[in-house]
Amino acid sequence: MLRPVRTLAKETAVVFNPKYPSPYQHVIMSQQFVPSFLEEVFVLADRIRADEASFRDTLQGFVVAEHFSEASTRTWYSFGAAAVRLGAHLVCSQGSDKFSSEVKGESLEDSIRVISGNVHLIVLRHVDDDSSRRAVAVSKVPVINAGSGKTQHPTQALLDAYTIQRERGRLGNLIIGVAGDLTRGRTCDSLVYNMAKYPGNTFRFVAPYNCKPKPGLLQHLREHGVPFTEHESLEEVVHDVDVLYMTRVQTERFDDPEEAQSTRGKLILHAHLAKHMKDDAIIMHPLPRVDELPKEVDANHRARYFEQADNGLWVRMALLTMLLTRQS
Ligand code: NCD
Repeated sequence: MLRPVRTLAKETAVVFNPKYPSPYQHVIMSQQFVPSFLEEVFVLADRIRADEASFRDTLQGFVVAEHFSEASTRTWYSFGAAAVRLGAHLVCSQGSDKFSSEVKGESLEDSIRVISGNVHLIVLRHVDDDSSRRAVAVSKVPVINAGSGKTQHPTQALLDAYTIQRERGRLGNLIIGVAGDLTRGRTCDSLVYNMAKYPGNTFRFVAPYNCKPKPGLLQHLREHGVPFTEHESLEEVVHDVDVLYMTRVQTERFDDPEEAQSTRGKLILHAHLAKHMKDDAIIMHPLPRVDELPKEVDANHRARYFEQADNGLWVRMALLTMLLTRQS
């Protein structure tokens, strides 16, 4: 039995307020999440992981599309596995830049219009910074942004917050170190916009001179009175952070390949440095890791990045359930 497509209002583009979109409709950026929404996702994620068998048929009859034009391992597999483990069907194009009609010059808008006539929900990863907004403007079904160029990766922010909640027992009153390529990465932005909503958080940004945080992100923190400091070396922050969020240099997004190569390895959390962190601090990373997080750190009791990656499955199962079955 296939479910009827629960199309969003035909005038989605009109009712959709890009500043405050309903998180139950489309997921495009982490500014749209309110704490009660996160709470709902986390409670459901916990229920599913505790008793997955009871959720086996939750999405029976639904068809989920994954449309990815950029490389992916975790996000791709965890969304796909989440949909299938809940009983949904999955149709996908990984490498849509090579294998979908994008190759023939079709616009993202036309592709999404057509895909949304076939499925109940679209998980989209696309190289364009504005791709999820563009998709939402034409889609008849919910769209989840699974990575939009350099700008956002909101479901990563959900699983990051879920990990912090599980591992530190709270989402506020934390000193959060965010290190790596803050100019071209998207996970850091989504994490910071999300965690900035919780009282008492302070951010410590650590980046080489050519990887500084985006001005819009810093402006947002200033406007919301959220304290932050900027640094160029990990030594300056390891002692006082409660959470250290490492990220890789996004070499594929540099204009100059030589500059990309020379930037790699500028920030490395060496095992001996990680030992100086607070005993109850945690080390996170959205993965993939390259030079910045040597595998020797895996033995440090603060390392949580593989747990973080595993959490993605439960959070995405919860999110798909909420978007497809909750009447908004
Ligand atoms: C990240 C991404 O795609 O932005 N990976 C992920 O989804 N876990 C991080 C990265 O590519 O550096």
